[in-house]
Amino acid sequence: MILVTGGAGFIGANFVLDWLARHDEPVLNLDKLTYAGNLETLASLRGDARHVFVQGDIGDGALVGRLLAEHRPRAVINFAAESHVDRSIHGAEDFIQTNIVGTFRLLEAVRAHWSDLPEADKAAFRFLHVSTDEVYGSLAPDEPAFTESHRTEPNSPYSASKAASDHLVRAWHHTHGLPVLTTNCSNNYGPFHFPEKLIPLMIVNALAGKALPVYGDGMQVRDWLYVKDHCSAIRRVLEAGRVGEIYNVGGWNEKPNIEIVHTICALLDELRPRADGASYTTQITHVKDRPGHDRRYAIDARKLEAELGWKPAETFETGIRKTVQWYLDHPDWVAHVQSGAYRQWVQTQYGAPATA
Ligand code: NAD
Ligand code: TYD
Repeated sequence: MILVTGGAGFIGANFVLDWLARHDEPVLNLDKLTYAGNLETLASLRGDARHVFVQGDIGDGALVGRLLAEHRPRAVINFAAESHVDRSIHGAEDFIQTNIVGTFRLLEAVRAHWSDLPEADKAAFRFLHVSTDEVYGSLAPDEPAFTESHRTEPNSPYSASKAASDHLVRAWHHTHGLPVLTTNCSNNYGPFHFPEKLIPLMIVNALAGKALPVYGDGMQVRDWLYVKDHCSAIRRVLEAGRVGEIYNVGGWNEKPNIEIVHTICALLDELRPRADGASYTTQITHVKDRPGHDRRYAIDARKLEAELGWKPAETFETGIRKTVQWYLDHPDWVAHVQSGAYRQWVQTQYGAPATA
């Protein structure tokens, strides 16, 4: 069995679904079910004995210790985090608690369990920490992409809290010998993405006839990877990654935000044309920029490609088309997400009027 934390969130749930589509090895899924956790995403696993869901906090050392003793997983994959930069700007407390304190408590509970394992199990055990390219800071237009040895220069409360967690993971290996692996991935997109992040927000707002809010000039660059390619990279690193190493994960897909929004509009114009015949691009509006907005992220994934033979399956063009189609095909998932706390969040962030 493997223990996945944060497995009801966007990437964690995609990982659990993909894992169980490929293996019969069970998954113990520990998730606090914050606003970002959505069990509806895992509805296809209802009644499947290979998926054991526990609602709880990675910061609850006693709970994690009990789960480890009872289920004896061979690996822990830590997705659990507060993940949205804009929320971290409005209030960083939850980011500090989960991403830093929570990771610390999880590491301690895992270390206590791991140190009592028989030697063979101890050697085979892995703690894989899922992190982000944002810990490396922002690149100038002509700078080379982030390698694993790039300095850690986080600029947002979110990325600072993730960098702190990466350092803790490193230290638990260096000091205590815990067999850790860390992945630092670029921006993900794909099915089940909570519509507070750029790509799903633009799709959902476009279809609802709402404004498409582009921060500042829209020329900030992100490096996009289809979520299922991130999941395949994590599986590969878990299987064959060298203990103590960091692996950058990315698809060599740098795009300015405004180009992403235009691509989404063009796909929707083709797949679900507006009733009035106008293009969805007419809904684009430029809004106030994000404070401290990182200008450019880019991932150099050559280590993962050369050492572990990983390659993404999707190009941006195939991945974004699948993603837009997925949102068109799943209006119920979107509607249920929107009827929850998401609506209040939109109001805080964009000052949108509350709707009945
Ligand atoms: P998400 O916000 O969609 O999901 C996070 C999940 O963690 C939710 O299900 C939430 O309920 C759960 N959670 C939060 N606090 C918890 C706690 N204290 N205990 C247990 N569960 C808790 O995030 P995501 O986009 O799926 O990201 C998953 C991981 O991948 C995060 O660590 C994030 O930093 C990292 N990452 C994300 C991206 C991206 O583009 N989304 C890119 C690179 C890395
Ligand atoms: P986001 O999806 O929040 O991911 P991150 O900040 O972790 O990269 O944002 C992606 C980019 O899109 C980022 O440069 C901010 C920008 N953005 C907008 O322009 N408008 C929006 O409404 C959102 C949510 C993001």
